[in-house]
Amino acid sequence: MSEDKAKEAWSADLSPAEALEASRLEAFDKVLDARLHKLQSAMLAKQQEMDRHLYRQFEAFHWLTQRLKIQGRLPPLRGWPLSPDVLLELHEWIMATRPRLIVEFGSGSSTLVIADALSQVGAGRLVSIEHSAHFGGKTQANLDREGLGKWVDLRVGELEPWQGEHLNTREDQTVSWYPVALLEDLQNIDFVLIDGPPAKTCEFARYPAVPAVIDKLAPDAAVWLDDAARGEEKRICQSWAEAFNCTFESVPMEKGLGVFTFERKPSVDTDTDTDTRIETPDDADTRPETPGDAER
Ligand SMILES: C[S@@+](CC[C@H](N)C(=O)[O-])C[C@H]1O[C@@H](n2cnc3c(N)ncnc32)[C@H](O)[C@@H]1O
Repeated sequence: MSEDKAKEAWSADLSPAEALEASRLEAFDKVLDARLHKLQSAMLAKQQEMDRHLYRQFEAFHWLTQRLKIQGRLPPLRGWPLSPDVLLELHEWIMATRPRLIVEFGSGSSTLVIADALSQVGAGRLVSIEHSAHFGGKTQANLDREGLGKWVDLRVGELEPWQGEHLNTREDQTVSWYPVALLEDLQNIDFVLIDGPPAKTCEFARYPAVPAVIDKLAPDAAVWLDDAARGEEKRICQSWAEAFNCTFESVPMEKGLGVFTFERKPSVDTDTDTDTRIETPDDADTRPETPGDAER
């Protein structure tokens, strides 16, 4: 007997009220089925999207390890550090543009990757600014283990109250940032990587980075801000782009990357040229004239 015939026979023995209830249940079943199907499709699409994202990180990690010359391991690349996609871009960018002076805020895997690139290029210097003696010590030990210490000047200083302008709106929070004294001797910075302080420090914790270095940037300097997909970092990007003479691009990396290129300074400022540059271990003159020209 077919299912429909069976249903007919079954409903024939029902009272009108029971038959009505049965047909309501049947309609409800159909609605549930349709909703379940929609949910399954949405979950499958989400899973496929997550697989694509994860694969992209695997792929980037593979190419990154092909490029790196370090003998040991990188610290784990989930959570705090830059994601493999940005680390790969970073390594390629440095080897292509050969920045002479790099400053990063927030040390870790990125420090090793930058130092590895500088060592392969054979020129340049990284000043890494770190607030934690504990994590700074770990990074320094990793650099020393790889013989990369000479490329990096790791400067540790506890966060202190920030005196300049800020986006913070919370009166219950002290706005703090790295000690600006750690940057005092720096001039003509070609590239800045911002991956600290941690977001929990205070609202808009990374905002001070560009105001703190703006007068120390070389012509056509580049600035990268990690985690640019987060709400606060989006506001920071927008605010810098409005306040400073720069171009801004939001690059779709795993956690979002804000890429800024600062305009060439007026000629009156370019007098402070190479004399004030920090010395590099092997200060090569092979650097392209405009870092922005190299492919990212
Ligand atoms: C976003 S992390 C910087 C990560 C670094 N740029 C990298 O690529 O590994 C910001 C700060 O978190 C701290 N940190 C580093 N590793 C950490 C960990 N595993 N757990 C908690 N904090 C960490 C360090 O003080 C670091 O300056």
